[in-house]
Amino acid sequence: MSSVILKLGGSVITKKDREMQADFKTIKRISREIESALKQSPDLKLVLVHGGGSFGHRIANKYNIHLGLKSRNQIFGFTKTIQVMRKLNFILVEELQSLGLPAIPLQPSAISIQSGGKISEIYTKTVKFALDMGCIPVLWGDAVFDEKQGHSILSGDHIVAFLAQNLNVKRVVFGTDVDGVFDSDPNTNRSAVLIRSITTDNIEKTLQNISGSKTTDVTGGMHRKILEVLPLAQKGIQIEIINAKRDGYILQSLLGKQDLGTLIFNQR
Ligand SMILES: Nc1ncnc2c1ncn2[C@@H]1O[C@H](COP(=O)(O)OP(=O)(O)OP(=O)(O)O)[C@@H](O)[C@H]1O
Ligand SMILES: [Mg+2]
Repeated sequence: MSSVILKLGGSVITKKDREMQADFKTIKRISREIESALKQSPDLKLVLVHGGGSFGHRIANKYNIHLGLKSRNQIFGFTKTIQVMRKLNFILVEELQSLGLPAIPLQPSAISIQSGGKISEIYTKTVKFALDMGCIPVLWGDAVFDEKQGHSILSGDHIVAFLAQNLNVKRVVFGTDVDGVFDSDPNTNRSAVLIRSITTDNIEKTLQNISGSKTTDVTGGMHRKILEVLPLAQKGIQIEIINAKRDGYILQSLLGKQDLGTLIFNQR
């Protein structure tokens, strides 16, 4: 039985321009949409991954967690980054569980090791067990131990890519705060045009036009996101980037609708 991975961007579930503020209203709405999708499609096996938004990115940036351990004061920042991400995850999991959904937090820093900022290992057996039992595993972008540089950042997008390669996944949906991938950043350019479909023909040009993130993002924003998922798309996994701020989009997407945002490498 194949699974769907849904990434909830930190740009969606937090107020990214305000320090450590969850967007409770959006979290509630999205949780209800997930509940509704699972009611309508009870066989759906769902893995959730969320980003850091204004919880993880700033503190990780302040202590340069992504650059590795160079001075003692970073150790506190490393633990603090993990703790603020647990706080954000707690809010989301509480909301899902309040609706009766069996969401289970699987702390990435406890089940992963990186090497030079790249995943060496994620213990996916727990994710598989959780799925087989009918739970909804929830993982998130985290600060993790790194065998080359002490610590580094494991982004939610990187986790998504790894899980999609290592579990039986047919579809990956990225819920973000924009309508999909544009020909330039829609948050800074009002006349940016939405690209409905990324194919081998337009991939290079698209990547040239895409910058990172407008807010502090130690994980590389939209550009890196696309690079992370290209190998998956090449393997035939359906990838779609949608606007999770729009009512009903997560629900429709989980039920299989495919024209909500940008599709990568799949023909409509
Ligand atoms: N060409 C582009 N098309 C779409 N978005 C773009 C583009 N170039 C840059 N961006 C920026 O990418 C942002 C989305 O990436 P960002 O990393 O901020 O969100 P996220 O991955 O959902 O959040 P998080 O990293 O916290 O999980 C948009 O808000 C937009 O400003
Ligand atoms: Mg991001």
